[in-house]
Amino acid sequence: MSHSAVQKFIDATRALFAVESDPAKRWQKMPPLLEELLANPAIKEQSKSWPDCSQGSERAENLLFYEDPDYKFVINGLIKAPKTRTQIHDHAHNWTLYGVLDGTETIERYKRVDDRSKADYAEIRKTVNVKVGAGKIDLVPPYEIHAEESGDERTVAIIVRAEKAGGFLQGRYDPVTNKYWQGYGPKQLPYELK
Ligand SMILES: [Fe+2]
Repeated sequence: MSHSAVQKFIDATRALFAVESDPAKRWQKMPPLLEELLANPAIKEQSKSWPDCSQGSERAENLLFYEDPDYKFVINGLIKAPKTRTQIHDHAHNWTLYGVLDGTETIERYKRVDDRSKADYAEIRKTVNVKVGAGKIDLVPPYEIHAEESGDERTVAIIVRAEKAGGFLQGRYDPVTNKYWQGYGPKQLPYELK
């Protein structure tokens, strides 16, 4: 990890994790750290060469920039081609901090309104539908239901997760049929930041 802005972010995150062990408190203190990284012009310039990630029908892709050997948090890149929509999903138990580095996108949040008595079934209602641009940071607590859609241009996000996604099941939701199912989170594509 040679990019100085990213290394500074890693150092600050490790320092925070060392003194704060409560996950909710930890993650609520993270946005200012990511804000500083997103404001760095060098990282934004570098991101112009990052490859697009697929949002395939079952599993999306993330670039994997870093996994912390001690605290296990990871730094991902998510680059969406214009007019690309994610599935409506949750991240299971994994805390996620999502920051827009370039472009604009629409963030949607949903709440679940059924009584969870039926397997493979979930009723959800949209509660948030907001267009955001560079610098916007969204803290996504465990099991929050959400989706994102890029605007007319390519959208780049830097995502910090409590642990690497892809190795455990996460919820997925279809609001038209009320189908609920689980699938593995995004494939992690190692990508070296220069
Ligand atoms: Fe997500």
